[in-house]
Amino acid sequence: MDKIFNNIKKPLSGSITIPSDKSVTHRAIILSSILAYQTKQPIETENISLGKDCLNTLKIFNELGIKTEFKDKKNIVQSFDFEFDKNKQYNFDCGNSGTTTRLLAGLFSSIEGLNCVLDGDDSLKKRPMKRIIEPLNLMGADISSNDNKVPLTIKGKKLNPLQYNSKIPSAQVKSAIILAGLNIEDETTVIESDLSRNHTELMLEYLGADIKYGKNESGFYTTIKKSNLSPKKLIVPGDISSAAFFMVAAAITIGSKILVKNVGINPTRAGILEIFKKANVDFTLRNLRTVANESVADILVEYSPNMETFEIYGDIVPRLIDEIPVLAILASCIDGYSVIKDAGDLRNKESDRIKNIVQSLSAIGVEIYEQQDGFIIRGNSKKVPRKDITFETHLDHRLAMSYYVLSLLNRGQTTIQGFECVDTSFPEFLELFNLLG
Ligand code: S3P
Repeated sequence: MDKIFNNIKKPLSGSITIPSDKSVTHRAIILSSILAYQTKQPIETENISLGKDCLNTLKIFNELGIKTEFKDKKNIVQSFDFEFDKNKQYNFDCGNSGTTTRLLAGLFSSIEGLNCVLDGDDSLKKRPMKRIIEPLNLMGADISSNDNKVPLTIKGKKLNPLQYNSKIPSAQVKSAIILAGLNIEDETTVIESDLSRNHTELMLEYLGADIKYGKNESGFYTTIKKSNLSPKKLIVPGDISSAAFFMVAAAITIGSKILVKNVGINPTRAGILEIFKKANVDFTLRNLRTVANESVADILVEYSPNMETFEIYGDIVPRLIDEIPVLAILASCIDGYSVIKDAGDLRNKESDRIKNIVQSLSAIGVEIYEQQDGFIIRGNSKKVPRKDITFETHLDHRLAMSYYVLSLLNRGQTTIQGFECVDTSFPEFLELFNLLG
């Protein structure tokens, strides 16, 4: 479905509360379901994301016998309802969600007697699954795939412990192995050269699991073994990757000043704040606090007339991988060359984000050069689009929302094709933008 925007260039002002973090929500649903199953007690989770991806994860546990009661719109209680059927093959639809597929492939491979197929939409069918199949096979998992893509057919069984050096810093790979390791008596260890988001580790620690993590001569390690979790209420912070769209929009729109409340600023996710500092974006953190083992703050962002170019490369990449599309919009508004490299995995996201960003921005006259592992943008603060423009989203929610941010600077009409894909992660997106200003 095409969505047409005639955004008037007006300052953004006011405050919004950012909806829940999707990565933390997936993990909260998974771990509260495991807890409800293990303890037979109701487990509360506050502030879940209502994006379709997270609801897909929730639905899968419902099909497996975990009942969900919505206390109000975003607060749920998970409880044990019935034992899953060992004589059945479950067919699970993961929709657009790589996180659902990869994390659950790890967990389900380790549950004896659970037979299932994980499948999803056209975008998910193109995404690489070898990265999880390989380590899980080393643990003895029984997974067959369509040439290392979904559908994945999994026959859950008792797995062996593993010591694994992850080739790519991916939290989905790390979490798949940790969730499998949670059902294995002996210790399983994952090592990463660059630290990826650590929500799984923090939540398991919060729930009293037998988990250790840190840095040694081999890299960043996480060690897990079979654990009984302690029942506790889980609380999901706001999503910094959702906040990023508003933060960039305020930085580039003259006269703006907004307060984005309840943002998770876990250091393994907050690379965008490091780039904002380098780029001289005017922002401050307020009301810093810790909620259920995660760091949270409110972020005040103002129009930033003196921004400077930036470079993204090396170990910061996993800390801001999802924010690169909107940072490309930021770069296109800063005079001079900004560089994004070491980010080749962007080609494996909901779409090939390198190719699509380069195509879309060059089509509207931005000077951008495609590289194998990123792109170089020569931004121009004065050359904003002034005519009717059209963007294609390729079923990629983050591209759709990044193009919307750019539409705020366009004096003509902006058409975003397939804009409904925003619902996979952030159904409240437009409603919140309408609140500002
Ligand atoms: C996620 C990890 C990242 C990220 C994705 C969510 C997670 O993917 O891009 O949106 O919740 O673990 P990778 O693990 O592939 O880097």
